Amino acid sequence: MLDINICLQQNDSDKPLVLGLFINQKVEIDDKINDDIEELIKSKLIKLELGETNKITTFSKIKNKVIYLIGLGAKEEYTKEKLKEVTKSLTASLGKELVIQFDSFIGNLDVLEAAFEFVLNAHYYNYKYDEFLSKKIENDVSWEFVTKYEVKQTIIEAMNLAVAIDNTRDLVNKPYNYLSAIDLADYAQELVKTLDNERISIHTYDKKQIEVLKMGAFLAVNKGSTCEPRLIYIKYQGLDEWKDPIALVGKGIMYDTGGYSIKTSMNTMKCDMAGAATVLGVLECLVRNEVKVNAMVIICATDNRINGEALLPDDIVTAMNGKTIEIVSTDAEGRLTLADGVYFAQKEGSQEVIDIATLTGACVVALGEYTTGIFGNHQDNINKFLDVAIKTGESTWQLPITEHIKKQVRSSKVADFTNSTGRNMGASGAAAFIEGFIEEKTKWIHLDIAGTAFHTTPSNKEFYGATGVMVQTIYNYLK
Ligand code: BES
Ligand code: MN
Ligand code: ZN
Repeated sequence: MLDINICLQQNDSDKPLVLGLFINQKVEIDDKINDDIEELIKSKLIKLELGETNKITTFSKIKNKVIYLIGLGAKEEYTKEKLKEVTKSLTASLGKELVIQFDSFIGNLDVLEAAFEFVLNAHYYNYKYDEFLSKKIENDVSWEFVTKYEVKQTIIEAMNLAVAIDNTRDLVNKPYNYLSAIDLADYAQELVKTLDNERISIHTYDKKQIEVLKMGAFLAVNKGSTCEPRLIYIKYQGLDEWKDPIALVGKGIMYDTGGYSIKTSMNTMKCDMAGAATVLGVLECLVRNEVKVNAMVIICATDNRINGEALLPDDIVTAMNGKTIEIVSTDAEGRLTLADGVYFAQKEGSQEVIDIATLTGACVVALGEYTTGIFGNHQDNINKFLDVAIKTGESTWQLPITEHIKKQVRSSKVADFTNSTGRNMGASGAAAFIEGFIEEKTKWIHLDIAGTAFHTTPSNKEFYGATGVMVQTIYNYLK
C-alpha cells in the first residue's frame, strides 16, 4: 500500500529525496550540493535520459542521506505518457519512506493532471498479489509529498481510484476455490456496507429468485455447477432524482471450463469474472468520489462447469426476454449470461448500457493483450468513449458488427438465436449476439477485455495477472 502525506515543505527528515531533472536544467537542490551534482552531470556519471534513476549519496552535506535524481529527458518533449513511464519505478524499489519533490516532475504539464497521474501510477505499479504466499511481499510505501500547489482533492480522487483498481485486481487474481458466485455476492454486500452511503442499495438474488425472473439463459450456464448462481444488482443514485441510470453489466463467470464443449487448456480461466470485478471497481470509485451520476451494476454470477445435469450442445434454452437460443457450444457461455443481464438492466429502466466481458479468444487474436475491443450501436457514444480512453491511456479499438454477422447469429434452424457463429469474426459474433437483446432505443457499448484483463506474458515492468483494465476509463466516462 501507498500512504501519502502532503506538505508544503520537506519535514525535518533524513529520508531519501526524490527529484526529477530535465536535461540542461539547472540543479537547485541546496547550495551545499548543487555544484557537486552539476559536476557529476558534466562528467556523465549522472544520466538524465527519461527514466534513468541516479542514486546520489550526500555525505551529510544536506539532511537527506540519499538523493534519487530521476532523469526526465528533454523538457520540450515531456508528456503525460512520459510522466507515467517515470512513475513506474518510483515505489518499493527506492525504499519504504521517501520525500517526493513533486513540483520537479510537472514540467509544462497541467499541475492537477500531473498529480493525478503521478499518484495513480505509482500506486498501480506497486501492487502485489500475495494473498496466498506465506511470506508476504514487502510493498508498504510512505511518502512525504512536497508541493506548493493545492492538489489535495486531486490526490484523494486518484487514491480512491487506485484502491478501487487494486480491489478489482484482487478479485480477478483470486482463484475459484476462494471465490464462487456466492462469495462474490457476499463481497458485493460487504463492499456496499463498507461504503456506508445512503445513495447505494444492493439486492442479491439466489437461484429460486432468478428462476422467478425467468433468466433461462443465465440459469442454463449454471446447470452443471455444484454452486448456486447469484444475480447481483446494485443501484447508485448520485443525482437528486432517480432518472436515466447507466447500467454497467459485468460478465461474472467465476470459472470457465467450457462445459461439455470442454476447453483443452483452461488455465487462467479464473479471470472470466473480470468484467464483474471491473464494474464493482467502478462503482466503488463512483461512490467514494461522490460522482453525480445515476448508475446500476448488474452481475450474473456463476461458474461454467460439468456434472450430470450440465447444459449440452444442441440444447435450446429460453432467455428472460422469451427468445430461444440454440446451444452450439457450451463454451460460448458468457453471452448467455450477458443476454439476460442486459435485458434485466433495460427492464429496470436503463436506456444506456455498458457491458464488459472477457468474452472471446478471437478478440485476443485480433487485438492482443494491450488493446480492448469496443463495439456498440450508437457511433456518437462509441466516439465519446474512445475519446475518454485516449485521455486515460487505455488502448481501445473499435470492431464492427456487420449486417452479415447479425444475420449469422439468427441463422439457427431450430431457435431464434445460435450462441456460436464459429471461428470467423468471433468477437463480432459475440457482440452481435448480445445486441440481439438490446432494444433499439438503448444506447449500448460492449467492451471485450479477454486479452487485456489478465496478463500471462508480461513485457517490461508489467506483471503477471490481473490488470484492472477499463476501471479508469469507464469511471471517467461516467464522470
Ligand atoms: N471466457 C472465454 C473467452 C476468453 C478467452 C477469455 C481467452 C479470456 C482469455 C469465453 O467464454 C469463450 O470460451 N469463448 C469462446 C467462444 C466460442 C466457443 C464461440 C472462444 O473465444 O473460443
Ligand atoms: Mn467459454
Ligand atoms: Zn467465458
